[in-house]
Amino acid sequence: MRRPTRRGGAGVARMSIVVRLALLAGTLAVAALPSAARADAEAGKAKAQVCVACHGPMGNSTTPDYPILAGQSARYLYLELKDFKEGRRSDPRMSPMAANLSREDMQDLADYFVAQKLVPVPYKADSASIEAGRKRSAEVLCTMCHLGGFAGQNEIPRVAGQQYQYIVKQLQDFRSHTRTNDAGNMASVTRNLTDDDIHNLAAYINNLQ
Ligand code: HEC
Ligand code: HEC
Repeated sequence: MRRPTRRGGAGVARMSIVVRLALLAGTLAVAALPSAARADAEAGKAKAQVCVACHGPMGNSTTPDYPILAGQSARYLYLELKDFKEGRRSDPRMSPMAANLSREDMQDLADYFVAQKLVPVPYKADSASIEAGRKRSAEVLCTMCHLGGFAGQNEIPRVAGQQYQYIVKQLQDFRSHTRTNDAGNMASVTRNLTDDDIHNLAAYINNLQ
């Protein structure tokens, strides 16, 4: 409720001060203007120290239910942080971490993690399960959105090499409408998946490089 007021006259007045500062101080004021292009992976590195406890060194989580962030699409990372901050996605461990991030923090963090190399944590699944997952993925046309090999792009996440348990939980959360920040895309995709389908899909996608 407070937001619209903050975006009103006062915001416009402040904007013109920023513009004036830009004329006076050049780059200093430019850096204060939000822009993905100016996000700084170096700044992100310092800000990411607090994330290591759960997401692992350089975003390579080794804990099965914490997602790997390394190599994830920057746009997707940014949007998820924003969703956690604004309550469209919620998790008791993650939501408090996003609560105080500024727009610039989120862009810096996204730029940092996209630049890190994903270190896969292969889940030991039997080959029949992996093959069943591959078949189901082809039937449901997952890669129509996630692209070949689940490499992802822009707002569509990379899922290849992601933690097995995390994938299982997300697919279950979409199916049960516990996670709803997907504009309905994943809700409809998961509606007819059985628990076996979900485990097989996770085994298949985790083992993709
Ligand atoms: C206390 C543990 C914890 C800390 C610290 C933490 N996270 Fe998370 N994060 C999680 C968990 C758990 C999830 C997955 C929640 C779920 O199951 O939906 C998550 C999810 C995410 C996601 C969504 C990933 C995806 O694939 O959808 C992003 C992005 C993220 N965290 C970024 C960060 C950043 C950046 C920091 C540091 C500023 C951070 N996290 C710190 C626990 C943590
Ligand atoms: C119509 C497009 C579309 C199709 C088809 C689709 N997805 Fe998705 N998927 C998305 C979008 C968009 C998101 C991200 C939602 C968000 O913004 O949080 C997503 C998110 C996910 C996530 C969560 C990733 C993370 O890091 O939290 C998983 C896992 C996933 N999809 C797996 C699948 C699988 C498996 C299939 C096929 C059975 C599939 N998707 C089919 C669009 C699609």
